[in-house]
Amino acid sequence: MSDRLDTLLHERRTFPPSAAFRRAATVRSKAVYQQASRQRLRFWAAQARELEWDRKWTKVLDWKPPHAKWFVGGKLNASANCLDRHVRTARRNKVALLWEGEPGDRRALTYWELYREVNRFANVLKGLGVRKGDRVAIYLPMIPEAVIAMLACARIGAPHSVVFGGFSAESLRDRINDAEAKVLVTADVGHRRGQLVPLKNNADQAVAECPCIAHVVVVHRERGTTDAGLAHMKAGRDHWYHELMDGADAYCKPAVMDAEDMLFILYTSGTTGKPKGIVHTTGGYMTQALATTRLVFDLKEEDVFWCTADVGWVTGHTYLTYGPLAAGATCVMYEGAPDWPDKDRLWAMVERYGVTIFYTAPTAIRAFMKWGTEYPKRRDLSTLRLLGTVGEPINPEAWIWYHKYIGASRCPIVDTWWQTETGGIMITPLPGVTTTKPGSATVPFPGIEATLLDGSGEEIATGGGFLAITSPWPGMLRTIYGDDARYRQTYWSRWDDIYFPGDGAKRDAQGYFWILGRVDDVLNIAGHRLGTMEVESALVSHPSVAEAAVVGKPHELKGQALAAFVILRSGHQRTGDLEDELREHVVKKIGAIARPDDIIVTAELPKTRSGKIMRRLLKDIAAGRALGDVTTLADPTVVAALKTKYEDEG
Ligand code: WT7
Repeated sequence: MSDRLDTLLHERRTFPPSAAFRRAATVRSKAVYQQASRQRLRFWAAQARELEWDRKWTKVLDWKPPHAKWFVGGKLNASANCLDRHVRTARRNKVALLWEGEPGDRRALTYWELYREVNRFANVLKGLGVRKGDRVAIYLPMIPEAVIAMLACARIGAPHSVVFGGFSAESLRDRINDAEAKVLVTADVGHRRGQLVPLKNNADQAVAECPCIAHVVVVHRERGTTDAGLAHMKAGRDHWYHELMDGADAYCKPAVMDAEDMLFILYTSGTTGKPKGIVHTTGGYMTQALATTRLVFDLKEEDVFWCTADVGWVTGHTYLTYGPLAAGATCVMYEGAPDWPDKDRLWAMVERYGVTIFYTAPTAIRAFMKWGTEYPKRRDLSTLRLLGTVGEPINPEAWIWYHKYIGASRCPIVDTWWQTETGGIMITPLPGVTTTKPGSATVPFPGIEATLLDGSGEEIATGGGFLAITSPWPGMLRTIYGDDARYRQTYWSRWDDIYFPGDGAKRDAQGYFWILGRVDDVLNIAGHRLGTMEVESALVSHPSVAEAAVVGKPHELKGQALAAFVILRSGHQRTGDLEDELREHVVKKIGAIARPDDIIVTAELPKTRSGKIMRRLLKDIAAGRALGDVTTLADPTVVAALKTKYEDEG
């Protein structure tokens, strides 16, 4: 955290919206902030009215801390909001999804076409016995069927649980079992950096230990080619997506859902080894998704909106699927790696589709920077008018690079802070109003109340503290699936009736927020959240490992990388390829995002006299910093020896 503060001090330029941008912007005046803060519920009710409701709510908010109900008594369907209301207008013929596969295959689906696919797949799910309230797991590559499956679930009121395609079979299994999903939707393969990702094989391994799964629907990603043999289909359980779709009716009436009915579960890492199933409901989530899409991205009818996030993360839920489709936008979706076949792939797509709004993560921007300006310079990026970032703090150097080389010093940048738990954007500029400062997510969105508190709940006007959200907001998580006690404990136990996001932040004299990073044992690896405990549990499940301590260390591209310190079981020798074996073991247990950068085999770990591992010192070692206070250590020589060892091996 202190490293970040140092670099922030070097960049002092500020960026007001240009007169031209402001003039055309949806929000042009700061008055929206005063209005929303004076009448917060009225502001959100006005945003909710941008959706189509089957029945209007009777009460905007029912707040019994820590449980909120928004738009009480209101009825609506998320899929109908993303599709039906558009196909009744000229948007029927507008492209909803502009999709590209990594090998270069392309599909464009109009709102009408997407509507038909979703209706048919909703009927397919019904035909497999999925009823309102049943959970459906989705483990797909970035293909249109991922969006179709999500919206089909929403249509029949079956909460979906999307599991990122990069997660391992074991991660998938645990998430399916926790949600007790009845059906799994997957694909034979996906494409990543020229390789085939064997999703169905992973799914088979997972489902073998998922008694709740009755059916597996398999999208034939390689349809028309000869790779069908890649997926072994188990009779009675497994079904090809295209075969089921062939027989499905083209219309499925959307289920009338209560505003507080569950829309989806999305698993995210916490401070224990077990991921949390974050529960989002329908009315409030959709309200915040639509409002933030319209106002933060200044979305206009003619925009081409590209959020590069995978559907496996919340960003892919809110800003690839529900927000922009509820707004009737044209969205770009891409299956593969940004450097395939070359490092200008994304810019080639910006040019090809005339993308106007581009939303990505700082880790990606740092990679673009490293690759060099020749790649964006090869392509015509003049259609871009607004850029966004999300997922981790952006270093001012990356911000300036993004502004200059992608945005041609013309496009405002919205640095948006939010979380899986918040459902939608919380702290962000409004591009026609806010003067931005590189590295700051600026101020809370209208209708959001955030502040900085110290450990005892005292407000900090300027300086550093814990970020806190002081009043409920529509898109907030409602609970942790099956574990309300953990919900209370994790988010609501630090202060009374105030939400604790787990981030440290600084507030400057102008009231701008500067998010510094997590203050708990959660890491942010390339914009993806990972719990140190999860990786430690994965490591100790290896037969050679007795004890493991995992910490984050600064990483030039990924923001943070993993350093793992392991103690071997007695009798286990350190063989030449043990480190690699342990890395692969973690990948198999969790997925490639959890692959540790450094593995240090050690005889001892620095511990306090009461036996607690001093992670603070391990972080110092991994970051190559001078060691902090070692006076409470049981044996101070351990840490000095470890530091030397790390420096030698690193
Ligand atoms: C954590 C949430 C929200 C979608 C992607 C990540 C960090 C997120 C920013 C930002 C600084 C950020 C926080 C937060 N984070 N956006 N603009 N500036 N940090 O979702 O996996 O739920 O992670 O990402 O630490 O708590 P997530």
